[in-house]
This record gives sequence, C-alpha cells and structure tokens, in this order.
Amino acid sequence: MKTFVNLFLGLFILQTALAAPTIETINYDTDTYEDVLDSLYDYDENPIVDQGKIEIGTVLPVVNRPILSPEQVPEETEEAEESTPKLIDGSSPQGPLTPGVQGPDTSGAISPTCILCACLITTVYCDDHNLDTIPPLPKETTHVYLRFNRISKISKHDFNHLTKLKKIDLTSNIISEIDEDAFRNLPQLSELILRDNNIRQLPELPNTMNFIDVSNNRLGSKGIKQEAFKDMTDLHILYLTNNHLNHIPILLPDNLQSLHLQDNNIQEMHEDTFCKMKDWTYARRTLEDIRLDGNPINLSRTPQAFMCLPRIPIGRLV
Ligand SMILES: *[C@@H]1O[C@H](CO)[C@@H](O)[C@H](O)[C@H]1NC(C)=O
Repeated sequence: MKTFVNLFLGLFILQTALAAPTIETINYDTDTYEDVLDSLYDYDENPIVDQGKIEIGTVLPVVNRPILSPEQVPEETEEAEESTPKLIDGSSPQGPLTPGVQGPDTSGAISPTCILCACLITTVYCDDHNLDTIPPLPKETTHVYLRFNRISKISKHDFNHLTKLKKIDLTSNIISEIDEDAFRNLPQLSELILRDNNIRQLPELPNTMNFIDVSNNRLGSKGIKQEAFKDMTDLHILYLTNNHLNHIPILLPDNLQSLHLQDNNIQEMHEDTFCKMKDWTYARRTLEDIRLDGNPINLSRTPQAFMCLPRIPIGRLV
C-alpha cells in the first residue's frame, strides 16, 4: 500500500512539473518587451537617416581605434590597434597617452577623446562615460554619440568648426543651457538628437537639418523661436513630444514627413498651420505622420486645417 501511495505521489509531482511551464507564462512578456525594444531602436528604423560609412549598433565596438588619416592607415593600423589601451571605465582623459598610438605624422596627435572613448573611422562613441562636459572632438568627426552622460551645458566652443559633423546624439544628459551659436558653424549637420534633457530654449540650427529630436525637454511656450524651421528645406522629421508646448510651430517646411507633438499643452490650431486657406490647390503630400494625441485639442473643430494633408493627424476628434 505504501509503495502504491508513493507511486501515486510521484506521478502527481511529475504531472505538476510537466504542467508548470504553460504557454501563457512563456508568452507573457513578449509584447512589453517588443515595445521596449522598439523604443530603444527607434532611430535605426528611420530609413532617411544618413549613417555615413558606419552602421550604428547599440553595443559599443570593442576596438578602440584612433582616427587615422588615409596616409597613415597602411603601415600603422595594426600596431595602433595592438597598443591602444583598453577602456574599461570612464578613466581620465588626461591620463598618459600611449606613445605607440600616436601616428608617425607630426601634424596631429591622436585625440585624447579617442583614448577615453572609442573612435571608429570618423565616428566617436562616448556613451555612458560620466562626462559632464563635451570632450574635444577630432576635426574629422562626422558622427558623435554622447548619450547617457551628465553633460549640463553646450557651449559655442564645443562643436566649433567641425565642418564634417553630420550627427550629434546627446540623448539622456542633463542639458539645461545651450549657447545660441553652439551649432552655428556646422555646415553639414543634419541630425540632432537632444531628447531626455532639461532644455528650455532651442538655439539656432543650420538649415541643413534633416532630423531633429528634442522630445522630453522643457521648451514651454517660448522655447522655440518663431519660424525656427522655416528654411530647413530638407527637414523630414521633427519630434517635439512632451515639452509643455502650447502651440504648433508655424511655417513648417514643405518636405516635412513626420511631426510628433504628443503630450504637450496644445489647445487649438490655426487653419493655416498645415494648409493654405487661400490656395485650395496646395497639397502637403509628404506630411503623413502628425501626432497630437495627449493634447487638450479637439481636432473636429478645424476640419479645414487638414484638407491638404494625406492623412488626418492622430489626436482627439470628439
Ligand atoms: C469637439 O468639436 C466638435 C465640433 O465642433 C463638437 O461637436 C464637440 O462637442 C467638441 N467636443 C468637445 C469635448 O468639446
């Protein structure tokens, strides 16, 4: 009898164990996880973005290679890679430079920033390094990633005369102050990502902009100058989500494709904001993605304001 009971118990336990990992538990988190992934990789999905010669992943490259001029590359590359110090933490940029890293030419020593951070051809990766100022960047820099640091200010000297610079990503710092001319001498700048900071005033930006993301800041009613985007003929994406804005910026450029304004304080819109009441033939064919959800605005009040658009904005319609 005892053996029988044991056998029965054993079977019962076995059954429970088999039944335990149900399909539901396995699938439980998939949706949330995908959402998180989506937001993490938001930028990589953007087909317009020009990534230069580099594909950007979220993982930092292991190789810590200095920026080399084309003449240096053949003889020096291997040696430079071997002798480049490995970076484990955000150790001091003032630390001793390894002599072997310096190329043979006398004109330019390797930027200390490329020893502190990581430089790959002309891209500088300085994410998550506890920086509180923008480090000096090599003259040839085209793309710079300074995400997840503690930078509080952008001064006019930080990016001065980086004539090749195309992309600046300063996501998740504590920037509250930007000099008005901080981005002025950047003739090729096309992507600027300043999301998740404390910015109250958007400075002057070059007309070469293609992608601007200033979401999750504090621009308020005065943080964007009148007609700030008017002459940016290549501007395709403008993200201004969650900024306490109380109006939609006006004179938006014709090539704009995506305008995100959700979670602001926009209560009304002018009928000419997107269309032209006096010109019924005018069509804004590219502006397919307008987000106005999370604003106290009733879109049904201004049906004319969307006549020229390929799609009605997302937002409250009742
Ligand atoms: C939104 O606007 C429509 C059209 O003017 C109106 O009928 C409706 O009552 C408005 N809704 C609210 C909540 O004000």
